[in-house]
Amino acid sequence: MQNYKIKRIEEGLTKIEFPEFEKVSSEAPVFYNPHMELNRDLSILAIQAFQKKEQREIDICDLFGGSGIRGIRYKNEIDGVGHVYINDISETANYYEQHNIDLNNLDNIEISQHDASMFLRLKRGEFDVIDIDPFGTPSPFIDSAGYCARRNSLLCVTATDTSALCGTYQAPCIRKYNAKPYKSEYCHETGIRILAGFVALTLSKYGKYIEVKMSHSTEHYMRLYIEVKKGPKKCDKSLKNIGYISHCKHCLHRQTSKGLATVIDDKCPVCGEKLIHAGPLWLGDLQDSEFIKLMIDETENKKINTKKEALKLLNLCLEESDGPATFYDAHAICKSLKISAPKLDLIFDKLKNEGYLTTKTHYNPLGIKCDAKINEIKDILNNLSK
Ligand SMILES: C[S@@+](CC[C@H](N)C(=O)[O-])C[C@H]1O[C@@H](n2cnc3c(N)ncnc32)[C@H](O)[C@@H]1O
Ligand SMILES: [Zn+2]
Repeated sequence: MQNYKIKRIEEGLTKIEFPEFEKVSSEAPVFYNPHMELNRDLSILAIQAFQKKEQREIDICDLFGGSGIRGIRYKNEIDGVGHVYINDISETANYYEQHNIDLNNLDNIEISQHDASMFLRLKRGEFDVIDIDPFGTPSPFIDSAGYCARRNSLLCVTATDTSALCGTYQAPCIRKYNAKPYKSEYCHETGIRILAGFVALTLSKYGKYIEVKMSHSTEHYMRLYIEVKKGPKKCDKSLKNIGYISHCKHCLHRQTSKGLATVIDDKCPVCGEKLIHAGPLWLGDLQDSEFIKLMIDETENKKINTKKEALKLLNLCLEESDGPATFYDAHAICKSLKISAPKLDLIFDKLKNEGYLTTKTHYNPLGIKCDAKINEIKDILNNLSK
């Protein structure tokens, strides 16, 4: 192994060492991204919540190990973990994974050097948790995950190709997720729904279906925690959650339609302009309030450096678990009405007083999830700005 200058960091209860690098990049000898600490902290909360809910010992697969920080933290900081398997295609990564296991005095962690899909297939059915945290898109690995995931297991998926999922570039999204994105003010939610829809459709080949326990879009990535269930009938029923979101960029109306080969209106029912469709995507739940409450409880039991940020995010995800698909951006609507935006609190109070289901959303501090129609929101905004 080359003589690198070594950097040591600490996350949670775990120490990790790796070759120092100047800039976070896939070119580093061993990959470590400090901006993903919140992602790793939330993973610890989610996997612990899953383990407590299942009340059994769990075996975990960290499919893209890098420095080994995930798998090692999972073994070191989560109760009820049996074996952890850390895989990475890079020999240098494997070397530091073993070094870091020793540094933390841990056992029952196995290291391997395989292509991710190959590793899953070699170990089919052996994991209760599969963590997929690759460079860019997870798309090429979802098929093997679907084939190899156990019934009642947890699939944790990161995607960093947000420009594709959010529709900045349409063609890569069609290629990687077989879905058409659309860059609206709620495109991060559309992106997560495209990713969840792709997972649901891919797993359905194996008679497996999904329940999304928690999901978030933060900075440059999206992350989903998904329970994998099995049964062809329930799978067919679950696939009824696949559909489309149609958006009118003229008046900002949006509507959802469930079903794959379904007829979708092309004309906006509000203003008559052309609707733009995104999908196929997941129109089922993206947050499970009971699961998120368990994650929030776990913040009391864990030492996590991002506790404040994690709690803020979890509470927003808990709130939005009641909300409908998509959200309004108050400032975008006010701009289209050529009025100045009223205070957000006033808008929320007014919508709630009028009896609409209204929640905040983690996607955007100015976002409003609400079951009111666009013209009803516009009336309220017009009245408030008078
Ligand atoms: C984003 S990094 C993983 C980061 C790590 N999970 C963390 O939280 O710090 C992706 C890793 O996947 C490895 N990798 C790339 N292609 C792979 C493949 N086809 N199979 C397995 N590992 C792969 C790279 O060597 C790299 O270490
Ligand atoms: Zn319209």
